[in-house]
Amino acid sequence: MTAQIIDGAAVAARLRQTIAARVTDIKAKQGRVPGLAVVLVGEDPASHVYVRNKHKATVEVGMRSIEHKLDATTSEADLLDLVQRLNADADVDGILVQLPVPKHINADRVLQAIDPDKDVDGFHPINAGRLAVGQPALVPCTPSGCMILLKEALPNLNGMHAVVVGRSNIVGKPIAQLLLQADCTVTIAHSRTRDLPAVCRSADVLIAAVGKAEMIKGDWIKPGAVVIDVGINRVPAADGKSKLVGDVATAEALPHAKAITPVPGGVGPMTIACLLNNTLMAFERRHGKH
Ligand code: GUN
Repeated sequence: MTAQIIDGAAVAARLRQTIAARVTDIKAKQGRVPGLAVVLVGEDPASHVYVRNKHKATVEVGMRSIEHKLDATTSEADLLDLVQRLNADADVDGILVQLPVPKHINADRVLQAIDPDKDVDGFHPINAGRLAVGQPALVPCTPSGCMILLKEALPNLNGMHAVVVGRSNIVGKPIAQLLLQADCTVTIAHSRTRDLPAVCRSADVLIAAVGKAEMIKGDWIKPGAVVIDVGINRVPAADGKSKLVGDVATAEALPHAKAITPVPGGVGPMTIACLLNNTLMAFERRHGKH
């Protein structure tokens, strides 16, 4: 047996096409399109790449991309002031402040200043709370993307034991909520979990979101499990360059799993597609679905 490889790039492309068609429809009917504001503070090279990719994807689906690139020395007060202006701007439907922000800025304070109904990252405590109690919420993008890929391989999750390795606010906790809503029995495991290999071996669905290169070994995977690998870790490659690997030792996992997401080309491409989907949802909630 070798696992089905879940093609995140293809699923993400399909989702972006669906969003683009909806944007075309909105433009024809309402004469306007959703707008996404992305705020980047400082010079972090990886963040600049992410923001460029978000801008490109936003424009490609026909939405408006509003970029604010601020100097690394920008004060927290000035950043909060910009967030308030974006909250009040009727042409802005979604707001994303790229993380990390420079050390002199309190990221929590900034994220909590974003209007929850424009919070397309889904990081505001109001959205985390809405998700936890099952109210309509803007849900963090990576967990949403994971659920779409998981359902590709396993349409009915009813009664499955899902193990989430990682308890971050951005991935582990929200994906646990989504799995619970899908009627899974959910275990959240983390760095203090006793006998992590045994806990993983009990998973019908294994979500790896720890940020440690190839930590989850092939023999930790229950035969026939579906594995979603959220990790994106850069490691040295044999040719002296570097390469991306996930949190799962994929080659070892292939003979055990029913299906697995690759790294790269699995969860990664889904995140931006889900960001655009959240922007569309935020727009539709503000302006009506028509
Ligand atoms: N930095 C890395 N990933 C993310 C993300 O999903 N959202 C934001 N705002 N910043 C990030």
